Amino acid sequence: MSLIKLVNVTKRFGEITALDRINLSIEDGEYVCILGPTGAGKTTLLRIIAGLLDPDEGEVYIEGRPVNGVPPERRNAVYMFQEYALFPHMTVWENVSYGPVIKDWDRDRIDRVTSEILEMVRLAERKDAFPHELSGGMQQRVALARGIASGARILLLDEPLGALDARLRVDLRTQLRSLVKDQGLTAVHVTHDQEEALMIADRVVILREGRIEQVGTPHEIYSEPRSIFVTSFVGGANFVEGNVAEVGDSGSVVELRGGLRIQVSKRGRSIGEKVVVAVRREDVTVGTEKVTGSNNILGMVGSVLFIGGSIEYEVRLENGERISSRILLSDAPKTYRVGERVVVSFPPERCYVFPYPKAGLLKEIEAV
Ligand SMILES: Nc1ncnc2c1ncn2[C@@H]1O[C@H](COP(=O)(O)OP(=O)(O)OP(=O)(O)O)[C@@H](O)[C@H]1O
Ligand SMILES: [Mg+2]
Repeated sequence: MSLIKLVNVTKRFGEITALDRINLSIEDGEYVCILGPTGAGKTTLLRIIAGLLDPDEGEVYIEGRPVNGVPPERRNAVYMFQEYALFPHMTVWENVSYGPVIKDWDRDRIDRVTSEILEMVRLAERKDAFPHELSGGMQQRVALARGIASGARILLLDEPLGALDARLRVDLRTQLRSLVKDQGLTAVHVTHDQEEALMIADRVVILREGRIEQVGTPHEIYSEPRSIFVTSFVGGANFVEGNVAEVGDSGSVVELRGGLRIQVSKRGRSIGEKVVVAVRREDVTVGTEKVTGSNNILGMVGSVLFIGGSIEYEVRLENGERISSRILLSDAPKTYRVGERVVVSFPPERCYVFPYPKAGLLKEIEAV
């Protein structure tokens, strides 16, 4: 039995359909990230699970029980706001023990639970501080501690790391996950940061314009994206348009602009079909020799960028198309300069092929 189950959940705000027939099951103990661009319906989805909003259609089940109409405090789920809201006039200790106090637990139990949880988030020493005396990361941990102290089994986290600086965000990701796992809780974590979702989640739900575009493990989402949108939103890629020129047993040939032909190992497309081929930057290499078994295209280096531990080249191909390549510095025997003639290579099995989108390619990529 799933811990949380949504069946055909639809929510409208006037003309806007914020959620459109969402079906989703979340297992006990799972860490699920809801990933999508702004306005995709992420917050709406969390608020519906929390009971802060009612769906217009469809049902929500928690622990197998239909919860439509059941108030938030009786759902075993705690919603943590996009801007974590601590009580500014209360100390860390008072903030965290707030839930247990409201529930009228006895003094000993309140003290024990509160100090245990403060130890866990490593804030025991700051128990008498007020929120404004703490760093952003500490405040976030207080908010989390408060959520856990409430006794809820389900944590609904709305951009829990959103307000923090980049460094802290990365540090807290793994802590957040361990905390949830150690406590045997279930988390639904909303983010628009793909890296965060891939790193932290057991499963990622990609939401776009109120619909689920794909659900899968981080590995599945990255290596088997089901649409141009997902490919672009998670990991990013080069996208080129073409027509299927040949369909064989081991793959197809796609003809790009200017008659340039490439091999792709995907089958099942029909000859003449207009398609989009996607190749991830990290699957493209740049060199001076052809690579056996790969597509090899001549080009000229248009730009070179150093990004952390890798180099990103933009190469202008002989047909005028541009392709980006990202190579780990440690894998780069030599670097190339702007204007140098190079061979761009990528293997057929690393090419994703999608039907050409009705609304045009740009719309799919720009929606990101
Ligand atoms: N109370 C409301 N009244 C009217 N429209 C709303 C309301 N809440 C949400 N919407 C609309 O529903 C859509 C989804 O909103 P939601 O807040 O769920 O998006 P989100 O994915 O959380 O976006 P963000 O990443 O910006 O937080 C948006 O178009 C938004 O304008
Ligand atoms: Mg939101």
